[in-house]
Amino acid sequence: MANSLRIQNLFSVEGRVAVITGGGTGGLGAQMAEGLVANGAKVYLVGRKQSTLQEQVAKLDKISPGKAKYFAMDITIQEEIDKFVKFVEQSEDAIDLLVNNAGLAIWGPPASYLDPLDKLQAGLKASPVDHWKALIATNSWAPYIFTVSFLHLLARAAQKGDGRGSVVFITTIGTQSWNPHTNFAGYISTRTGAEHIARILAAKLLPHKIRVNILAPGIFPSNATSPNDPQGIANPSVASTLAPFKRAGTQEDLVGTIIYLASAASGYVTGARLDVDGGLVLISNGTNKFLP
Ligand SMILES: NC(=O)c1ccc[n+]([C@@H]2O[C@H](COP(=O)([O-])OP(=O)(O)OC[C@H]3O[C@@H](n4cnc5c(N)ncnc54)[C@H](OP(=O)(O)O)[C@@H]3O)[C@@H](O)[C@H]2O)c1
Repeated sequence: MANSLRIQNLFSVEGRVAVITGGGTGGLGAQMAEGLVANGAKVYLVGRKQSTLQEQVAKLDKISPGKAKYFAMDITIQEEIDKFVKFVEQSEDAIDLLVNNAGLAIWGPPASYLDPLDKLQAGLKASPVDHWKALIATNSWAPYIFTVSFLHLLARAAQKGDGRGSVVFITTIGTQSWNPHTNFAGYISTRTGAEHIARILAAKLLPHKIRVNILAPGIFPSNATSPNDPQGIANPSVASTLAPFKRAGTQEDLVGTIIYLASAASGYVTGARLDVDGGLVLISNGTNKFLP
């Protein structure tokens, strides 16, 4: 009989089926998908842009042929989510891992607490309700309704045990930050809302053994945070001044965490939040520099 304590069993994702929203643009979703496929999982990627999804699936096919599928859709439209559930049901009777990774970030113009009041007020006021509606729909409602729409498939996976039936909400360490130089109240509060939703669902789903946890990234290179942008937070020289470990997160940092959350290793963990940020959140409430 296989020794359940050996890493290849305890952390195995071999044969598991994962759904990852926002997995097509080379960012965190795509990076997690690569790690899961490299370790024998099958992934379904979701996003709005068919071309980038196709490119990412082609990349995954090179890692392990036939292990990735995509579905182009908008996660803020219920009918499209329903169609996607039907698409998955054609091939799967259970979903072992759902990663609610897609997100929308809208920053306001600079508005530091050190600015004169008129400049501060103008910066903070540049926050139209349409932005807030889009942020709430993408960052709070979509991960909620996506999870709820997959409950039957997650529950079937959870019944099999060994950590299956795992839901991960990707948020941000910004939910624990109120750095007074920054101006992204809509982004941060809708992510904070998502964290509360994750805990509500974790509690509600206990009888079904569906686990719901939060992975809060710090600074990671992605489509949204290009390392080639000289001012961007993931640019190596910027990250080295902002982050306590003097670097942005790596794909290994991210993949190690998602494999833990997808596998038997985390089978007794639900309602938890893992900050994957090299300690950035521990210093992000200082007043002396811009931090997420
Ligand atoms: N990178 C970081 O440093 C960092 C830090 C903290 C938190 N995060 C979080 O990590 C997650 C991934 O972000 P990222 O940095 O990897 O940026 P990204 O590459 O821009 O990923 C965002 C993804 O969300 C998808 N998406 C957005 N709205 C959607 C919608 N309505 N329907 C379907 N898909 C949608 C986008 O795909 P389409 O455009 O094709 O729809 C894209 O693939 C986000 O939730 C972000 O808030 C990132």
